[in-house]
Amino acid sequence: MTAPAARPNDLSAYWMPFTANRRFKAAPRQVVAASGMTYATDDGRTLLDGTAGLWCCNAGHARRPIVEAIQRQAAALDYAPAFQMGHPAAFRLAARLAAMMPGTLDRIFFTNSGSESVDTALKIARAYHQLTGEGTRRRLIGRARGYHGVGFGGLSVGGIPANRRPFEALLPEVDHLPHTYDRAHQAWSRGRPVWGGHLADALDQLVQLHDARTIAAVIVEPVAGSTGVLVPPVGYLERLRTLCDRHGILLIFDEVITGFGRLGGATAAEVFGVVPDMITLAKGLTSGTVPMGAVAVRRTLQDAFMATDGQGIELFHGYTYSGHPLACAAAEAALRLYVDEDLFARAATLATPWADAVHALKGRRHVIDLRTIGLVAGIELEPRSGAPGERGFEAYLRCFERGVLIRTTGDIIALSPPLIVSTDQIAQILDTVAAVLDEID
Ligand SMILES: Cc1ncc(COP(=O)(O)O)c(C=O)c1O
Repeated sequence: MTAPAARPNDLSAYWMPFTANRRFKAAPRQVVAASGMTYATDDGRTLLDGTAGLWCCNAGHARRPIVEAIQRQAAALDYAPAFQMGHPAAFRLAARLAAMMPGTLDRIFFTNSGSESVDTALKIARAYHQLTGEGTRRRLIGRARGYHGVGFGGLSVGGIPANRRPFEALLPEVDHLPHTYDRAHQAWSRGRPVWGGHLADALDQLVQLHDARTIAAVIVEPVAGSTGVLVPPVGYLERLRTLCDRHGILLIFDEVITGFGRLGGATAAEVFGVVPDMITLAKGLTSGTVPMGAVAVRRTLQDAFMATDGQGIELFHGYTYSGHPLACAAAEAALRLYVDEDLFARAATLATPWADAVHALKGRRHVIDLRTIGLVAGIELEPRSGAPGERGFEAYLRCFERGVLIRTTGDIIALSPPLIVSTDQIAQILDTVAAVLDEID
């Protein structure tokens, strides 16, 4: 017997990502429109966006210049083959993006997501070592609690157990640094915690264990986002850079969240003054409007590929939609808007009132830590005994009912509003969180 066909308005056909599907479909939450700082729900309510969608709509929603650029591009050139052909918007965007990157990370490879950017960077690292006569350097080092998307490469270097477990075995020749969070030493931190720079020395131990000649690259999020906002301790990234240089290891910053103003500069690399060898990007690149990612690669790394014999393909890698015309148009418009409205500087200026508003939650029921940097906050709640994640999820639902969109990862609330947020809206977001914390068990 064949299964009955899904009915058009049936919610069952859509297998939703990273979602408790059964719970959602029993009580759906849907948005139907967005503008500026707000979403409109299907039942006619307004939701203030405390999370820039999923850390991506940095310029706010439905911004005219971006919308119109996408519309124009769709009418003019809908698609262009990405292999052995090009179109002007991709070259223009690459040049514009390259100019925003630190150091000489001015070679740009386009992808369609953060996950693809991560896998691309890991592949470039391995291919580079092969090309330069160090083919034994295959090992990839990630970090506990790291999130690098959901491809097998990103999962393998990632360090969130629930994301990894169902998909074992992952890539071989991978190891992990310890994460950088220790509440006893770092609680209630504003900006970078003073304690913990020495944790980077764990890389030296991995080098001892595996031999530097087996290690291709280290990948870290400068600020770990999805695990619940872990800010790098003072000196930590600097020390990683020094150790990577010492041992011939490539350093990759996964800036899928931290790129495009979240910390008050174009990149975390710029804000922290530490230049990696590659930066992975996505999300804010198009302000979330069209899927797009990119890897910014140090020029001398790419030179190795361009110095190979012959006239053939230098890197056997790419996607049908690499540099998609609509994504390029959206990204060009978004990057221009960031500059025209000086949004990264705005985020830097708002960092203090933001931190003040978040840290005012100290002493509230359930709150066991608060962490802020740029326009990001982690609000860590004490988990309910025997029910980890439930208190966080209830806080999320109650905030939604009260008209504020927050994000929770387990029992940690992660906030990251669009960079156009006003101080009144900051107050509304934090007042709502405070009221909800008071009312939930
Ligand atoms: C640091 C980091 N890397 C990679 C990804 C994956 O990006 P995507 O969901 O676009 O594949 C994310 C997504 O949140 C991320 O935060």
